[in-house]
Amino acid sequence: MVKIPENVKKVALEAIKKKTFALGTADKKGHPNAVPVACFQYPAVMDDDKFVIIHNYFDKTIKNLQENPFASLTFWDPETREGYQVKGPVEIKSSGDFYERITSEIRAKRPDLPLKSVIILRIEEIYNIKPGLEAGKRIG
Ligand SMILES: Cc1cc2nc3c(=O)[nH]c(=O)nc-3n(C[C@H](O)[C@H](O)[C@H](O)COP(=O)(O)O)c2cc1C
Repeated sequence: MVKIPENVKKVALEAIKKKTFALGTADKKGHPNAVPVACFQYPAVMDDDKFVIIHNYFDKTIKNLQENPFASLTFWDPETREGYQVKGPVEIKSSGDFYERITSEIRAKRPDLPLKSVIILRIEEIYNIKPGLEAGKRIG
């Protein structure tokens, strides 16, 4: 696993505020799908080597993750255009300690959300997406 560098965390925290996250998945035949997601800023949502995304309304996304448990999460700060793409395997948890820890905090603030499961993306690769000569380069 790759530890998230501080500069990448900083952009992720801006993206949490500005709601600029896109989650890419693929089915087992390789057909792609990308959706906007909202990463909540709770202590466990972004750890040293993982992001947690909440499954409320996913349709093709969750089917894809069930049959092909890998994802790409892209986020950026629209003001600086600094951004990163993180990729890795995912785990889906719909019950248990981790699910309860994450969802109990969110449920307290957003009782309207279905909170069907939590998706844990463990980071194996990090790429720079800022437009320029370094765009697309792997940084972690
Ligand atoms: C700004 C924005 C944020 C969203 N965040 C989430 C989210 O965090 N979790 C979720 O389950 N759906 C979220 N959605 C809904 C999904 O993007 C999408 O509508 C849903 O996954 C159905 O598309 P799919 O069939 O490609 O999965 C969000 C939609 C928007 C417009």
